[in-house]
Amino acid sequence: MATSRGEFSSRLGFILAAAGSAVGLGNIWGFPTQTATNGGAAFVLVYLVLAFCLAYPAFMAELVIGRYGQANAVTSMQKMSRKTWQKQFAFIVGFGGVICAGLILSFYGIIAGWMMSYAIEPAAELLGMRGVATWVVSQGDIRNILFAALFMFFTIFIIRKGVEQGIEKWSKRLMPVLIVLLLMLILYVITLDGAIDGLRAYLNPDLSRVLEPDLLISALGQAFFSLSLGTSVMVIYGSYIAKKENLVSLGAQVTLIDVTIAFMAGLLIIPAMYVAQYQGVEIFAADGSLISGPTMVFDVLPALFNSMGSIGLFVAFAFFVLMSIAALTSSISMLEGPVSYAVERHNIERNKATTAIGLLIFAMSALIIFNIEFMLDFIAMIATEYGQPIIAMLCCVFVGWIFNRSDLLEEIKHGNEDVESSWFWKIWPWYTKFVCPVAILMVFLHSL
Ligand code: PHE
Repeated sequence: MATSRGEFSSRLGFILAAAGSAVGLGNIWGFPTQTATNGGAAFVLVYLVLAFCLAYPAFMAELVIGRYGQANAVTSMQKMSRKTWQKQFAFIVGFGGVICAGLILSFYGIIAGWMMSYAIEPAAELLGMRGVATWVVSQGDIRNILFAALFMFFTIFIIRKGVEQGIEKWSKRLMPVLIVLLLMLILYVITLDGAIDGLRAYLNPDLSRVLEPDLLISALGQAFFSLSLGTSVMVIYGSYIAKKENLVSLGAQVTLIDVTIAFMAGLLIIPAMYVAQYQGVEIFAADGSLISGPTMVFDVLPALFNSMGSIGLFVAFAFFVLMSIAALTSSISMLEGPVSYAVERHNIERNKATTAIGLLIFAMSALIIFNIEFMLDFIAMIATEYGQPIIAMLCCVFVGWIFNRSDLLEEIKHGNEDVESSWFWKIWPWYTKFVCPVAILMVFLHSL
C-alpha cells in the first residue's frame, strides 16, 4: 500500500513490534511484583484466564478498529460511527486512550530509568568505578530525574524516525535475545537453594483466593496493561497492519508471546525471591506481605546475579540492558499513540509533535519523582487498574454495538477469506458485544 502513513513492512515486523509493545516492564517487573503481592499461584491462574478470555478479545477489537479506520483511535472510531452522539463517544474513548498512554509513560519512564541505572552499575563495577556504581543504584531524586530523562530521550529519538525505521527495526533485533537470556536464567535459578519453595508458591494455587476482589482487579489491570490495551496503542498499531494480513492469528500470536514471557519472568523472579530470602535478603515482612513492592525486583535480581560470582556482573549487565530495551519498545508505542493523534488530527509536524509531547510527559514524570511515595502507585493505579480496562471495555462496546456488523466481517475477511465459517466469527462478535463489557464491569463492581 503506497501511503504517506507508515506501515509495517512485513507480518513478522508487526508481530515483533506489537509484541515489543506488549512485552516490557509489565511482564518482567509488573507481573512478578503483582504475583508476589497477591498470593502467588492463585494470581497467576486468574491472570491467565483473564488474559485469554477478556484481554485477547478486547485486543482483537482494538486491532480491528485501527485497521478498519487506518488512523488514530479517535478518527478510526469516528469512521465507524454514523450518528453524532456516536462520534462524540468515539472522541471520548479515543482521546481517553491517548491520555491514558501519556499517564502510563510518565511513570513507566521512571522505572525504565531504574533498569538503565542497574545496567550501568555492573559496567561501572567492572571499570573499577565504585562510587558511580553505588550512586546509580541508590534511590534519589537526581538519579531518578537523570535516568528518566535519558530514557525519554531515547523514546523520542526512535519515534521521530517513524514506523519502519524506528519501531520495527528495534523490536526485531532484541526480543529473541531477551527470551534466550530469560530461559538461561530460569535454568540457573532453579538449581539454587530455596528455589523449590518459590516454584511451589508460583505454581500451586490456593483456590480459595481466586475470587478475592483485590486479586481480581489487579489481575485484570495486569492483563490489560501487559497487552497495552485501552491506550489507543493497539488501535494505532492495528492501523499499520497491511490489509493482506490475518488479524485473528496475528492477535493470537502476540497474546501468546506476551503471556508466555510474563509466565517465564515469574518462573525466574518468584523462585529468585525465595533464593534471596534464603540468602538473608529481606523480602517478606512478618505478616507475609512484600516489604517493597515496586522495588522488589531490584532487590531480588542483583542478589541473584551476585550469587554467580564475577560472571554475574556480565549477566547483570546483559539482563538490565535487555530490560531497558524491552521497556523502550513499549515506551515508543506509548508515545506513538499521542503523537499520531496530534499529527493526524491537528496537522502538527511529526518531529515537533514528538518532541513536544515527549517533554510534556517528562514534566509529568518529574512531578511524580518529587512526590514519589504517593504519586507513583497512585498514577499507576489510576491508569492501569481503572483507565485501561474501562477504555478497553468501551472499545468492545464500540465494536459490538456501534460498528456495522457486515463492515466488521468485511474487515476481518481481509487476509482471512474463510473467517465467516470459523469458530472465531461464531464466538467473538457476540462475546465482544455482551461478555467482555459485562465481565469487565462485574470485576469492577466486585472490587467496590
Ligand atoms: N504492555 C507494556 C508492558 O507490559 C506496557 C504498555 C502499556 C505499553 C500500555 C503500551 C501501552 O510493559
